[in-house]
Order: sequence, then C-alpha cells, then structure tokens
Amino acid sequence: MVKNTPPMGWNSWNTFGWDINEEIVLSTADTMVKEGLLDAGYEYLVIDDCWAEDERDRDGRLVPNREKFPHGMKYVADYIHSKGLKFGIYSSDGYLTCAGFPASYQYEFIDAETFASWGVDFLKYDNCFKPSSIPARLLTHRMSFALENCGRDILFSSCCWGTESVKEWIKETGAHMWRSTGDILDNWASIKQIHYLQMDYQPFNGQGCFNDMDMLVVGMNGQGNVGLGGCTLTEYRTHFSLWCMLNSPLMLGCDIRNMSDDVKKIITNKEIIAINQDPAGRQPMLLQGFRNGVHEQFFIWAKHLEGGDLAVGVFNLLDHDERVFVGYDALGLDHTSDRVLKFRDVWNDREWIYRDGIKTVVPAHDCYVWRCSLLPYEK
Ligand code: GLA
Repeated sequence: MVKNTPPMGWNSWNTFGWDINEEIVLSTADTMVKEGLLDAGYEYLVIDDCWAEDERDRDGRLVPNREKFPHGMKYVADYIHSKGLKFGIYSSDGYLTCAGFPASYQYEFIDAETFASWGVDFLKYDNCFKPSSIPARLLTHRMSFALENCGRDILFSSCCWGTESVKEWIKETGAHMWRSTGDILDNWASIKQIHYLQMDYQPFNGQGCFNDMDMLVVGMNGQGNVGLGGCTLTEYRTHFSLWCMLNSPLMLGCDIRNMSDDVKKIITNKEIIAINQDPAGRQPMLLQGFRNGVHEQFFIWAKHLEGGDLAVGVFNLLDHDERVFVGYDALGLDHTSDRVLKFRDVWNDREWIYRDGIKTVVPAHDCYVWRCSLLPYEK
C-alpha cells in the first residue's frame, strides 16, 4: 500500500497538454518546494501524455521524446527526488495513448520495469485505444500485476472515466485512485457537471482507493490546454472545497510558477486540506441536493472525521444567494444528545457555538465549510 489518504500533487495536462518539457517540469518542481506546496501535502509531480517518442526502441522500450526531455527520464526523476518530491508518469491500457503516442497494451510488464528503472513513483493509466473486445477490468488488473512485481512502490492511478462499471471492480485491482468522469474543463459548468456525477460513486469512495474527480482547474484563469472560459476566485474556492469534501485526490493543474497569492491561499489552506486528508478516509454523506434521482443546485455534504469531529459543507451552485439552515437533527443529534456543536469556518477563521443548528446566507456559487466539534450543552 503506497497511500491511504487521497494522493496530492501536480499534473501537466490541464495547462501544458502537448507542450510539456524538461524545463517546465524542473521549474515546477522548484516551485512546489519554494512556494510551500510540498509542505502543504502536494508530493507527486506527474507528467501526463505527450512525453514519449512515436516509436519504441529496438528492445521494445518506451523512449522519452528527445527534444522535450533531452536528458531522459531518469535525470528528471533524480531531480524531482532531490527536491523531496515523487515522480509520476502516464500511459494507457491500449495500443496508443489518448494523444496518439505508444501505450502499454501487451507491453505492461516491460513498461512497468522501465518506469521502475527510471524511478517512477506514480502511474496514471488511461483507457484510450484499447481493443474493444478486452475489458478495461482485465487490462487494469494486468498493469496492477506488473506494477506490483516491478520492484518499486508505484502508486496506481486508473483513468477509465467511470466507464465499464469501474466503481464496482476497481478495488480488486489495487488502484489507489480512479477517474470517475470524463475530462474537466476550466469553467463553472464543467465543475458542476463533474460534481453532479458523483452521487452514485460515494459508496465506492474510501480509504486507499479514492474516486478521482480529475485534476483541479483552480488558478487556470482560462489559460492553457483545458482553459476554456475560466472561473472566478469564488468558483475556484467552491471547486476546491467540493473536491476536498468528496475525498478526491488533489492534483493541481494550473501553472503554479505564475499563480497569484489568492490562488496560493486556496490551494494551501491547511484546514480544508486536513478534511480531505483525514486519516479515517470516510465516505462523505449527502444531506441535501439530490432527491428522487433529481439534482438540485444547493448541496449539503458532511463527513465524519477521525477523533470525532464532523466536517459540514454547504455549496450554493445556484446563480443567486440562498438561505440555509443546517439543523442538529440533520447531523444526527437531537435534544436527548445533550451536546452542542462548535462550528469552525475553515475559510474565514471564525467560530460559533449554536444550540440547534447553523443558519446563514450563502452567496451565489459560494460555499461554507465548517469543522464541527461536540461540546457539552451548558444550561
Ligand atoms: C484523457 C484523460 C486526460 C488526459 C488526456 C491525455 O483524455 O482523461 O486526463 O490524460 O487523456 O491525452
């Protein structure tokens, strides 16, 4: 087992897509350390698609693109490790990766060995160009087998986009995270869409095998490979809070070398990250927002944390401000419990104690997340 809590790191795809190269990777590694992202928990630096040459070498091994990565991948891995970070790479279970580079179908064992020899610590494994007659389940098992036997601890990140009932079999494969939807885009509609698709996945989301809601778009501001539209800072904060509450891996996707202080504040907020990284890794509970198979636009999520606290998030995805009351009954308490809750607002450094629940107005596209602790009721 490589990791029990949702993996955290940075991935090249959202901003750089085809244009990834050594210089970007090394300077991103520097930034992860310098800007305190490693300290905040972001440890994996992952190169997504488009890193390879079009052809394997004579021995059937994958070859890094010579112009983009002139010193090869061992050099990149060594640099990343020297910074205290871990190194991730990408392949697919088909003949080709999604962008058309050679992929691992029927090369699973040789590729796992190659990755291990370079010092890879994380593999994102996509689902493009596989033979349609072969189930993704079987190919995911095969790569997992190869990784387990490659002689190195490599975190397995499966990327089947929620297809082929992946939620039902993913735990068997030993994958640590699994993509549950198609690709994210840097706009509010995409964030809402991915969140709506999560309702059915929660029973399958938990310790050591986390439902991956895709790389974060926080801070992209409409720039880069999936930068289609951009979001407001409030929307990015709501996006980050949703991914945290729902136990998603937190893989940054913006160009962190050029992020603003406001963006840095969002992605390094220790209290919201602690809710995501809670060691118990419990499934979040939906208290409001999905009735009779229909999505509403105001959501209340809660999650029991190790040690007895409860995280509660209210998410207003509506286009207007909305009043909300989260009563103790909804959180499992009633008058016989003889307890009150202290609500700590993790984004605004404020605390309140209420006798029967919390009442507030949530602005459009905004959210509140509270860490709640039980206290005795004082008459
Ligand atoms: C698929 C994946 C993306 C990204 C691209 C790369 O679309 O879902 O996350 O890895 O492939 O080509």
